[in-house]
This record gives sequence, C-alpha cells and structure tokens, in this order.
Amino acid sequence: MAFLADVLSRVKPSATIAVTQKARDLKAQGRENGLEYKASDTIVGTGGKQILYNAFLVTMNPGDEVIIPAPYWVSYPEMVAINGGTPVFVATTLENNFKLSAEDLDRAITPRTKWVVLNSPSNPSGAAYTRDELKALTDVLLRHPHVWILTDDMYEHLTYGDFVFTTPAQVEPALYARTLTMNGVSKAYAMTGWRIGYAAGPAQLIKAMDLVQGQQTSGACTVAQWAAVEALNGPQDFIPKSRKAFEERRDLVVSMLGQAPFLKCPKPEGAFYVYPSCADAIGRRTPAGKVIETDADFVSELLDAEGVAAVHGSAFGQGPNFRVSYATSLNVLEDACRKIQRFTASLR
Ligand SMILES: Cc1ncc(COP(=O)(O)O)c(C=O)c1O
Repeated sequence: MAFLADVLSRVKPSATIAVTQKARDLKAQGRENGLEYKASDTIVGTGGKQILYNAFLVTMNPGDEVIIPAPYWVSYPEMVAINGGTPVFVATTLENNFKLSAEDLDRAITPRTKWVVLNSPSNPSGAAYTRDELKALTDVLLRHPHVWILTDDMYEHLTYGDFVFTTPAQVEPALYARTLTMNGVSKAYAMTGWRIGYAAGPAQLIKAMDLVQGQQTSGACTVAQWAAVEALNGPQDFIPKSRKAFEERRDLVVSMLGQAPFLKCPKPEGAFYVYPSCADAIGRRTPAGKVIETDADFVSELLDAEGVAAVHGSAFGQGPNFRVSYATSLNVLEDACRKIQRFTASLR
C-alpha cells in the first residue's frame, strides 16, 4: 500500500511562494523532548488543525482507516472523513482512565489502517500516557510496519503532579520514520488566535504537506510565526506557574464532582478538562419530571436548572459522560461545581 494519497499526483508546487518560513528553521535548530530533526523534517502551519488536516489530506485514499481512541477531540473523525478515510473508533474505559490498551490497539489494526492518532494529554479526558503505557502501544506498532503514528502533543506542557511527559518518537526511536509529532502554541502559550502549529516527521511526508500548504495558504502568517518564536524562545517561567494554577483547579473540580451524587470523576494527568461519568444519573428524573435518558439530556437539564455549561460525552464518542473545562478561575469553578452537586442531588 503506497503511503501517500493519489491526490498528490494531481498537485504541482506553488511557483510563487515568497514566504521564507524562518520560524521553521529556527525551530529546527533545537526541539524539545530530545527529538532531533532537520529543517526539512519540520513544518509550520496555520494552527495544529492545518497540520493534522494536511497530514490526512496527503495520505488518505478512499477506504483507508484511521484508528482514533475514544473519547476523542471532535475534529479528528471529521478531518479523516473529509479526506475520504474511515475513522475506526476504539473505546476506552473510565477504569483505565480513558487510555487505549495495547490489546485493543492490536485488535483494531487491519491491512487498511494508515494512522493511529494519539493525543496525550487528551482533549476531552485529560488522560496522559506514561512512558510505560506508551511503550506498550509502540511495541504493538513495531509489529505493524504499515501503520503510522500521528501524535497530537498540544497539551504537552499542561501536566500535573510528578507526571513526566513523553511522546512516542522519544519512547521508541525505531518509529521515528513513521511518526508525525504535532504541537503548537495554542494551549500552553494561550496563543490560540495566532494560529501557529508545527510538526516534525519524515521528510517525504513533510514535503507532501508542504506542497499542499503551498497551494492553500503559501505558509503560516509570518507575524504570527515570529510571535511564536518569541513565545518558544522567551522566558518560560510562567509555565510552571500556570501548571500550578491548573493543578489546583483540577484538584478542586475532581474533589467536588467526586462528591456529587451519581457522578464518578477520575483524576486526569493533564490538559484542562475532566470527563466524569454520569451513567448513574441515567434513568433518573429531574424535579420537573423530565427523565434523563442520555448524557445530552444531562447537560441540557443542568444548563436549564443551574446555568452551568458542559459538553456531553457522546459528542466526543464516548458516554454517558460530560466534559468540564477548568480553564477558568477557582471561584467560578467552585460555584459551578456546587451547582452541579445541587443538580445531581435533585435527581430522583
Ligand atoms: C487536542 C487538540 N488538538 C489540536 C487542537 C487545535 O489547535 P490549534 O489551535 O493549534 O489549531 C486543539 C484545540 O482545541 C485540541 O484540543
């Protein structure tokens, strides 16, 4: 099976690109995580989203499969589907902290599998894989040389306690040649609006992504690239401070939701989300007599009753759960969690 998509044979490079992607070269002079790449193995895009989208665009042929552990960030399956591929969802469990197991990964792989998408720490669950957990997955992938790894490390800097972040290419260097490692400045640097994401991977793939990007946008906005260079090379002392603030918020939310009737709230390692189960609330009635049949009912009734907004888990491919973002102040979170407690206590 050829790795690159047939669509590429129909595209010629843009002859008029004047943008010199200096940020890419600067970035390539040193990368985090002990990963070494040449400039030609890296790409800067208009957000992590463009990187992911183009990775699928240049590799997917109709019928190709992409393994996506659930719960997942909502854009992965849509991007796969737009590009003619078939998302293959693999369920995880709350007991396993929403992490993909080696056995389930192995079972999901078929001759049509092109990519497996790993996102650690995860949006929506906050789950992050330890080195050992990743090693179990990379061991499986070593046995399936046609499967590539797309790792979305967007929340890398947002991990808590003594958790140590690692990424698949670091854990298993033998997978370097078929791993695309994606990152960006949207989360840790709170620069979502600047739209800068970047990735490193094998030159053949990067070249193909560069080719299509040349016809889409020419390149990421240079002003934003320089802003990202400043963010990445500038003082980093705010990162431990924001981690500490997020950790306090996570601990508060996990503890308060853990005390809410009918909810189970695991403690995730990173990102700024928790993903409690509301399975025990399903089938119960609100004081107004409405039966909660799904997690979508749960969040909708919660919004009506208490004005607290959360996203139902079925939107992320796994429920009955709901996602709470704790990217807000402790006061707001405490008030919201109290309201969630009051709401679940009112169910009969
Ligand atoms: C897991 C994950 N990956 C990628 C992105 C997209 O990042 P960017 O703003 O760089 O496009 C997000 C944004 O919400 C995300 O949660």
